[in-house]
Amino acid sequence: MSTLSQTLTELVQVAAAAAGHADAPVALEPCVPTTDPAHGDYQSNHAFRLGKALRTNPRQVAEAVRAALPAHPLVASVEVAGPGFLNFRLDDAALADALATAAADPRFGAPLPGAGRTLVIDYSSPNIAKRMHVGHMRSTLIGQALDRMFRFLGYAVVSDNHLGDWGTPFGMLIVAWDRWRDEEAFGDDPVAELLRLYQRFRAEAADDPALMEQARAETANLQAGEPRARSLWERFVAVSMAEFDQVYRRLGVRFDETLGESAYDAMLPGVVDDLLARGIAVEDEGAVIVRFDEADGKGLKDAVAVVRKRDGAATYTTTDVATIRYRMDRWTPDVIVYVTDVRQKQHFQQLFAIAARLGVQADLRHVAFGMLKLADGQVAASRSGGGLVSLVEVLDEAVRRARAVVDQRADEIPDEAERAAIAEAVGLGAVRYADLSQNPQSDVTFDWDKMLALTGNTAVYLLYAHARCWSMLRTAGVDPGTPRPLALIDPTERTLALSLLRLPEIVATAAEAARPNLLADHLFGLAQDFSAFYLACPVLKDDVEPAVREARLGLVAATARGMALGLELLGLTPLQRM
Ligand code: ARG
Repeated sequence: MSTLSQTLTELVQVAAAAAGHADAPVALEPCVPTTDPAHGDYQSNHAFRLGKALRTNPRQVAEAVRAALPAHPLVASVEVAGPGFLNFRLDDAALADALATAAADPRFGAPLPGAGRTLVIDYSSPNIAKRMHVGHMRSTLIGQALDRMFRFLGYAVVSDNHLGDWGTPFGMLIVAWDRWRDEEAFGDDPVAELLRLYQRFRAEAADDPALMEQARAETANLQAGEPRARSLWERFVAVSMAEFDQVYRRLGVRFDETLGESAYDAMLPGVVDDLLARGIAVEDEGAVIVRFDEADGKGLKDAVAVVRKRDGAATYTTTDVATIRYRMDRWTPDVIVYVTDVRQKQHFQQLFAIAARLGVQADLRHVAFGMLKLADGQVAASRSGGGLVSLVEVLDEAVRRARAVVDQRADEIPDEAERAAIAEAVGLGAVRYADLSQNPQSDVTFDWDKMLALTGNTAVYLLYAHARCWSMLRTAGVDPGTPRPLALIDPTERTLALSLLRLPEIVATAAEAARPNLLADHLFGLAQDFSAFYLACPVLKDDVEPAVREARLGLVAATARGMALGLELLGLTPLQRM
């Protein structure tokens, strides 16, 4: 199936060609929803842009295109508006049919614009021997939502957890382990003990340069595959992964690959040699560097990236160049997406500039998200304290708070296991949605009360809207999976149907723009449209005519399907009862 926008855009294309504009000097932009529904449902700016480019009257071009538009069942009327826009009003019966078809389709009538394309998405990517902090939570949640959306669009997606598991910190840890380890503490909370050892090393090394020498030697041992260094490193990786996996299990995150920085170690000398041989990198006072200039991109004037330090060590950049090469060789992806906080913006600009010089063909995208701030006194009270909050604690706390609310309704939901499942979905959903409903670029403030609020643009509000659909369907004895005829009579019904039919377009836009919040906003609008419909159009009351009731139940069932789809793409668990 095509989306509404696609269908209309194709009609405009055909009409423009018929009106003599086959070789247009401007690209065809897709039709978009009108801002004011009084002017129609969708708008095309093609004639306007054509007229401008051809230096003729855009309104005349628009009239000619309109006259050439082939008839289509979806289109009730078309008007030329303003300086040369084409405004489409869609046919009620055709919309009802389209929605009935979408609702009966497991993919909700969505096309597969990503079919035949491969996309690698690099997200979460925490650092071994450190706690996964709230920044990694953002990467995990945003990455997981994008991962799901791209798969839904038909991309062949490879999700890769690019762990920080290599380099001198591990040499330092080995030295610290030998000198200061506390086996008992390691048994209780291994990552806490590793953190303590690392900090102790930093403190002691400040006064004792010999320690740093030893750390370098241990790092070299590790890189040479020396068995003792290797087995300690494996232990550090294992205990850290066990902690990360708790979070992933809880959040339902699954990676196709977990290729940390260590996976690329053997490639690094070759990468540096190649960069030198191609003249992309140069030797500079014993180091190897890449110099950038304005032509490499805004902000890169006079920038320098080190790819081999004076002591011979490779860098984060070298590893990422090797990683690109590996990914290109193995999957020939069309797109590679990286999800990290905005502090790495420069790094990725430089990396992409090096990739461009190497002739890498993939579309490289950095999703640079803002920082997560903690509303005072709320999360900071957690056991680990100090701003770095353990994710498992955050998730537990969210579920605990949700549980307290659900338990107040124990008389309505007597089954204890069901209340626990509801609290899990609501608590985790609230944490996710609080993040995903914001533009990734903005900083986000972590605020429990706002997150778990029943009204406004929150997870709870959306989950309720979905559960309300199910409760109506249960009362009526209707299974939402069964195809039903629809009719759109009341304006609120029409608005709701249009919102539902736009869902596939929104998923595509949100994924390509790397902005899950566009999908969140749409779902919020959808829930509001449903609520307006619910107030205006009785469904289950006795005096509703059977045919009207049937058609409205069809709309409720379609809403349940659309909401569930959208919520799942964001990683939420839609509940049938709450
Ligand atoms: N481990 C890094 C960090 O915690 C993120 C890695 C992102 N991915 C990449 N290919 N550089 O900051």
